[in-house]
Amino acid sequence: MSKYSLPKNFLWGGAVAANQLEGAYKEENKGLSVADIMTAGANGKNREITDGVVDGKYYPSHEAIDFYHRYKEDIKLFAEMGFKCFRTSIAWSRIFPKGDEDQPNEAGLKFYDDLFDECRKYGIEPVITLSHFEIPYHLITKYGGWRNRKLIDFFTHYAEIVFKRYRDKVTYWMTFNEIDNQTDYTNQFLMATNSGLILKDNQADAEALMYQAAHYELVASALAVHLGHRINPNFKIGCMINMTPIYPASSKPVDIFQAEKAMQRRYWFADVHALGKYPRNMEAFFAKNELRRDITAEDRLILSEGTVDYIGLSYYNSMTVAYKKENPDFHFVGPELVVDNPNVEKSSWGWPIDPLGFRYSLNWLADHYHKPLMVVENGLGAYDKVENNGEIHDPYRIDYLKAHIRAMIDAVEEDGVEVLGYTPWGCIDLVSAGTGQMSKRYGFIYVDKDDQGHGSLKRIKKDSFFWYQKVIQSNGTALD
Ligand code: BG6
Repeated sequence: MSKYSLPKNFLWGGAVAANQLEGAYKEENKGLSVADIMTAGANGKNREITDGVVDGKYYPSHEAIDFYHRYKEDIKLFAEMGFKCFRTSIAWSRIFPKGDEDQPNEAGLKFYDDLFDECRKYGIEPVITLSHFEIPYHLITKYGGWRNRKLIDFFTHYAEIVFKRYRDKVTYWMTFNEIDNQTDYTNQFLMATNSGLILKDNQADAEALMYQAAHYELVASALAVHLGHRINPNFKIGCMINMTPIYPASSKPVDIFQAEKAMQRRYWFADVHALGKYPRNMEAFFAKNELRRDITAEDRLILSEGTVDYIGLSYYNSMTVAYKKENPDFHFVGPELVVDNPNVEKSSWGWPIDPLGFRYSLNWLADHYHKPLMVVENGLGAYDKVENNGEIHDPYRIDYLKAHIRAMIDAVEEDGVEVLGYTPWGCIDLVSAGTGQMSKRYGFIYVDKDDQGHGSLKRIKKDSFFWYQKVIQSNGTALD
């Protein structure tokens, strides 16, 4: 087999996150997480972040799809599709309900023991994210989230406990999910989910808080990598970057330079994770702008000693930006800059569909960081319809995934990119992170539940279930 092809042991699988499917939000001493105080939004309507759990409001994470009680049935279905791996997260607040305790919650640890054993029973490799938009709520109310340096200790303590406990059950880990999303510091949802920063509208120091919180997360991640390798030298510990390549709106030099600056503002996270230091462009930016007040020589040493083994990435879409003269120092990468790209189609939620952008992204990351990549999210959120005979025909999802898998294989075979695995997002329908909807479905497996929380939770195989089964069986050669 050529070294420029998918290896025989390529990790085909699927991806989810604890807060979006487990439910059981208070069971066996679990504490509240930030996800548990987010209501359901709608297509085009943001979720509300409430002050604790408010009576009478609907919080989709509280029951989600009840994976906590149904995981055996669901993993059996994943095994039937042929999964080689399953990406999920550990809900930090199941292990440390408040986040700052000394002793972990044994019932929470036991749940993941059982879950990982169940995966292994079918030869499915767990791929585990330590923090996927589910910081314990108490760490927000008492410490202000990741603006506080103390969180480094709480996180590394949590990491140490789970690394030791699952030393022989888990090999692939990731630290922070889509750490670079918070680049858009004007988006309250992203700031809360990434860093537990609950801000006032138009808070003046939002940008500085974001850079400070991100710095502490990066230090915590590097410490975790270091620690994990000491606990088990065979661990493969990655970062997780949301890769959204940023195109210029035109060939005007100002647009091209704006897109380049937007890439710098968004992907420096990957530099720190993979190369162990801030890139010079961001150091220059920080030197000019008072944005990252607390960074020590010891932090820099930690960053240099805790570089990741691989880069986990999510890819859904590309983004296009145009120059704005009101932003001469290129501070943000937010909706203000984004323009429509008429050259790509859009999903029902307005997300551009751009498979070549995926190949471009894989090339870009491989060229910059020279590390193996793992595609840990990709997929199409779409409305599905259950036919009268109970079948679900989802050719749009198959088309999307087919085009993206083809692009990934081109990146491997023609561009020489090393990819360890591919886990499409929401392999079973779950709660949308962005909107809290159930009707924004990504899965190969349908779950009977609506946006108001009603439904039998019954699982139904969609057409894409059988298609993906063949893709895995053929190691990516039978896409049609
Ligand atoms: C990624 C997240 O941003 O995209 C997932 O890691 C999320 O948690 C996924 O669910 C899709 O986004 P959404 O908003 O459609 O759920």
